[in-house]
Amino acid sequence: MAVQRTFSIIKPDATERNLTGAINAVFEKAGLRIIAQRRIRMTQEQAERFYGVHRERPFFGELVEFMTSGPVVVQVLEGENAVAAHREVMGATNPEEAADGTVRKLFAKSIGENSVHGSDSEENAAIEIAQFFSEAEIVG
Ligand code: PPS
Repeated sequence: MAVQRTFSIIKPDATERNLTGAINAVFEKAGLRIIAQRRIRMTQEQAERFYGVHRERPFFGELVEFMTSGPVVVQVLEGENAVAAHREVMGATNPEEAADGTVRKLFAKSIGENSVHGSDSEENAAIEIAQFFSEAEIVG
């Protein structure tokens, strides 16, 4: 198995409820190491660019509005098969379908306010990481 990096966001519904540490504990227990982390307020421009692939979808405006509504924590996680490991521990997009013990089952409020984002491939992870971190800020 290969050591990989993935990109993660702790979303505004979670920072609002002071869940950053609780979510990081779930990630660390799953073998993921937080090798970069910053709390930011995403701008409209950043959110529209980040979610550009969903621009034509009916929920795009709502998604951008939500992601800019409060602080988020952007992160780089590292571990064995980190992309898949992170997606597994996040759980399904819709918390009603998420498995027990996953972040979304434990904490998410709805399909939109679902507490965390994770990259869906190693290629997209590299693209997403580069939108928020320089290589010098990532300490593996
Ligand atoms: S897909 O087709 O698998 O890419 O789409 P999906 O992963 O289901 O969703 C992509 C992101 O859009 C968010 N989402 C929504 N936001 C608001 N309202 C509705 N109905 C909705 N459906 C999906 C979802 O939380 C995903 O966000 P990220 O940050 O990528 O997890």
